Amino acid sequence: MTLLVLIKLIIFSKHNYGTHMDKKIKKVALLTSGGDAPGMNACIRAIVLTCLRYGIEVYGYRHGYNGLIQQEYLSLRAKNVTNIIQRGGTILHSARCTEFKSDEAAELAGKNLDILGIQALLVIGGDGSFRGAKHLSEHWQGQVIGLPGTIDNDIYGTDATIGYYTAIETALESIDKVRDTADAFERIFLVEVMGRHAGFIGLSAAIASAADQIMVPELSRAADDELENIISHIEEVKNRRGNSSYIVVITENLWAEGVTKLAEILTERTKVDCRPVILGHVQRGGSPVSQDRVLATKLGVFAVESVIEGKTGVMVCEANHELICLPLETSWEKQKELDPYLIKIQTDTFDLLNRP
Ligand code: ADP
Ligand code: F6P
Repeated sequence: MTLLVLIKLIIFSKHNYGTHMDKKIKKVALLTSGGDAPGMNACIRAIVLTCLRYGIEVYGYRHGYNGLIQQEYLSLRAKNVTNIIQRGGTILHSARCTEFKSDEAAELAGKNLDILGIQALLVIGGDGSFRGAKHLSEHWQGQVIGLPGTIDNDIYGTDATIGYYTAIETALESIDKVRDTADAFERIFLVEVMGRHAGFIGLSAAIASAADQIMVPELSRAADDELENIISHIEEVKNRRGNSSYIVVITENLWAEGVTKLAEILTERTKVDCRPVILGHVQRGGSPVSQDRVLATKLGVFAVESVIEGKTGVMVCEANHELICLPLETSWEKQKELDPYLIKIQTDTFDLLNRP
């Protein structure tokens, strides 16, 4: 290799996208932002313990980006993260902070981070929070790293987000209970799950609870078509198996008039009692299941290692059992797709109407 090629390689690696290679990391901060998710505490714990392991001081900003603007922080030691791995919510609290979209707020946040001598900020949250991190990086020289934490699982590039598995489990427990009463009365139930505008919780909860029908944004049709489709499905199922329970898992925000109205329409049209059940924020709470704790721990440790390696402007992800970094923009520029195989199972293979 010629000297010139070697020099070029060194220059490229120093300025490679997403890396700040040349400083020793001494102070790191983190925050949780947007909808809280079970496993955020496990992630905070992993970040704090890894920082301490590498001799890095670590600070936690409270109340999402509000804490950065208001300089509301605390120093985090091992004792702060003892006995939190099993707790839902976030010990740092979370918030939505519309003010952070302004340049003034991001500049102030950058100044506050500099006053404290912070070299890297880790943001645990969803794609909105990652936009916030990107916005901050336009006004601050430090490193920024995102960790995907949201029950919605709607972040491209990572197989799962922290909190998703627990939310499915919570939805599933409720749907199983709904099935008992639905069976007793041979009723239709519409069970509304969270997901904002994504059907990940809906599809997984439907498969795992053997729901009769799903309504998720990714598969949605015009409202009239959707209605006629579901009514004809209910009627055909009734013809085949007689009176029975019938459960529809539906993602929030999908039916414009709300699930209570949809239940009224279905009752009237099918002449079978239909009841709505809105699971709501219970899906955000509770002790994280083991998969969320393990994922949160892996991503937390990997995020700190990525900071030490000089990475910035990236989110840490797990894809096919491999830990990787992707540009923060990927989270809003690319759309994560539902698993087509699961869709086929739910809508075709296991559909009663497809059985001989
Ligand atoms: P999530 O992170 O769960 O997707 P949100 O979409 O509510 O949740 O975003 C969380 C927070 O991230 C917002 O309240 C705001 O503080 C910040 N944020 C979102 N979008 C932007 C943006 N374009 N610029 C700056 N900050 C943003
Ligand atoms: O993003 C997580 C989430 O729980 C979504 O599933 C839901 O649409 C939204 O947050 C609810 O937000 P809020 O708690 O502000 O009502």
